[in-house]
Amino acid sequence: MEYKFDQAELAKVEYHINKYPTKKSAIMPILWMAQKKWGWLSKDIMMYIGELLGLPYSHVYGVATFYTMYFKKPMGKYHVQVCTNVSCMLLDGDKIYEHVSDRLGIKHMEATADGKYSLEEVECMGACGGAPMIAINEDFYEFVDIKKVDEIINSLN
Ligand code: FES
Repeated sequence: MEYKFDQAELAKVEYHINKYPTKKSAIMPILWMAQKKWGWLSKDIMMYIGELLGLPYSHVYGVATFYTMYFKKPMGKYHVQVCTNVSCMLLDGDKIYEHVSDRLGIKHMEATADGKYSLEEVECMGACGGAPMIAINEDFYEFVDIKKVDEIINSLN
């Protein structure tokens, strides 16, 4: 499979590049665009981003592997992130994580066989005031419990 952005996406790449004094500074939003489009960042995709920015693969790989938000393998359509850091853990975040893991039959950074769900145990997501919390893709759900999390997962299609 050949990985290429379309014309509208390339215009967005230019937009990001023009925000910075050097081209390579645009790497993070462009990696994010690529992940949104293809679901994860394969070696071929990272090489393509490198071509766009005039960077070696090793540089792109270095950035992509430094940040956990970039997936280096295919993940689920719904990426469920459960915070088990202090504020959430004190309010059963760890039990919520175990429940979701058991329910979906997957562990940290695994995806279900049908590709619908993946799971990540995350550190503080800066929403301690709403602990315990989970995030699914880019949506935060605060003050959850196991019952509420089940309802949220049941509502996904
Ligand atoms: S500890 Fe869970 S959001 Fe901060």
